[in-house]
Amino acid sequence: MALYSEKVMDHFLHPRNVGELENADGVGEVGNAKCGDIMKIYLKIENDTVTDVKFNTFGCGSAIASSSMATELIKGKPLSEVLKLTNQAVVEALDGLPAHKLHCSVLAEEAVKAALRDYYEKNGIPHDADLLSPGVHCESCH
Ligand code: FES
Repeated sequence: MALYSEKVMDHFLHPRNVGELENADGVGEVGNAKCGDIMKIYLKIENDTVTDVKFNTFGCGSAIASSSMATELIKGKPLSEVLKLTNQAVVEALDGLPAHKLHCSVLAEEAVKAALRDYYEKNGIPHDADLLSPGVHCESCH
């Protein structure tokens, strides 16, 4: 069996939504201290919905595929759904990641949540901090 699924390879080789958004409503930047990878997500939000999203990832192939898939999963979605994004959902949508690469998907979840937190804080919108904490902490990242 190949180490990486076709979807992972597709999103790594042809990542969706790469770039920056000028005048983003929320920006989240996270990094993994161990591997040194950095991920930045930009959100455009209108009427409590993610109307556009872009990302820049300086990192491994799994991190690039994870952030690409995460942007696809949240684009056009109401914030109530975006808040529930988990790294497991990203992994499932990618048809799996090798166990030692799961932490790369955690980075994508963290970046999305950091961008949402930024949006809520900039606009003084009350929010549930628990929902914006990553659901999974893997040992290699934290
Ligand atoms: Fe760093 Fe994948 S090895 S995020």
